Amino acid sequence: MGGFLFCRGIKEKNLLDPLPGTGSSPQPNQHQWAGHEAALERVFAVPGVVFLVGGMDTGKTTFGIDLAARAVAAGIPTAIVDADIGQSTVGPPTTVGLKLCSGMGNVARESIRDADGLGFVGALTPAGHMLPLVTGTAKLVARAMAADCKLVIIDTTGSVSGVAGQLQKFSKMDLAPPDIVIAFSRGGELEPILGHTRRFTTAEVIELEVPEAVDTRSVEERTTYRERQFAAYFQAGLSRWRIKPQVFMPSLPPEFDLALLDGIVVGMEDGKGSCVGIGVLENGGARDTLKMVSPVTEGVKGLRLGSIRISTNGRSRGPVNLRNLFQTE
Ligand SMILES: Nc1ncnc2c1ncn2[C@@H]1O[C@H](COP(=O)(O)OP(=O)(O)OP(=O)(O)O)[C@@H](O)[C@H]1O
Ligand SMILES: [Mg+2]
Repeated sequence: MGGFLFCRGIKEKNLLDPLPGTGSSPQPNQHQWAGHEAALERVFAVPGVVFLVGGMDTGKTTFGIDLAARAVAAGIPTAIVDADIGQSTVGPPTTVGLKLCSGMGNVARESIRDADGLGFVGALTPAGHMLPLVTGTAKLVARAMAADCKLVIIDTTGSVSGVAGQLQKFSKMDLAPPDIVIAFSRGGELEPILGHTRRFTTAEVIELEVPEAVDTRSVEERTTYRERQFAAYFQAGLSRWRIKPQVFMPSLPPEFDLALLDGIVVGMEDGKGSCVGIGVLENGGARDTLKMVSPVTEGVKGLRLGSIRISTNGRSRGPVNLRNLFQTE
């Protein structure tokens, strides 16, 4: 998407003025934020696919939302693809979420929670779930581009270390090639990933130091945030579905005890390649009365099994290993 035309009116606006009401704008007067402001300006000059990368609590999401808010105000058709499956902002945890931001009066954490598209991953961390994370991200970026978005902001998990972190970021960039990679670093921890970006992709790299104002959050705060995001999703009125054992991907083994599926998160697929929501399986008591609760009421043809159990109040009931559960490879 490198060289698309400017939208009319971009140049008339002072793009460095924080928008009222976003609640997340950096303070441009502070020297520490100069790099962030320059990065915003650069993105406005050459919008395209912008990939945000950084460790935990480095300011990626705040920057991404601020960028989206200012771009929308400037008339740039903008989307956020939230590929952070644990600390989700768009859509519930366990999914990649797409938000088409154009036309929104106020782009902020609260207003982007309802997704315009989802990709089901079924887990809260990328480890062991890289394939649906990467394919889901790429599919939603493609969807944003098909919707004529000129700026597509990809927010990612804070997992950047080791072979797993490198492979995950590399694979996302491989399948959804960015025009600009914005790196939020506290030291040299992003050097391997940025080295790969420079060597293997055509993306422009912008490196930012993380300012002191960017807070870290405790494990408990992260858990509470995630539970709230789940609970907010399931609060929107729950329907109870009766589930046939043939609808699952992967398929259940013969004679499988359906009670073992109790609490597992599932992705609800429309049979046309899109995820329309998530649900939680419920053991109905008798052997053949499996149920599912979800706020989604229609358009579902199949269910993808996830790898965690939760309650609809958002509480985690622990991970599930489907291979162990099915006693198969
Ligand atoms: N520009 C800013 N001005 C003030 N505070 C900020 C700014 N950017 C981030 N913060 C604060 O720093 C914390 C972390 O920011 P943020 O959630 O954007 O980081 P992240 O890299 O997306 O984290 P995560 O690892 O959870 O995805 C938040 O509490 C946020 O309010
Ligand atoms: Mg974030």
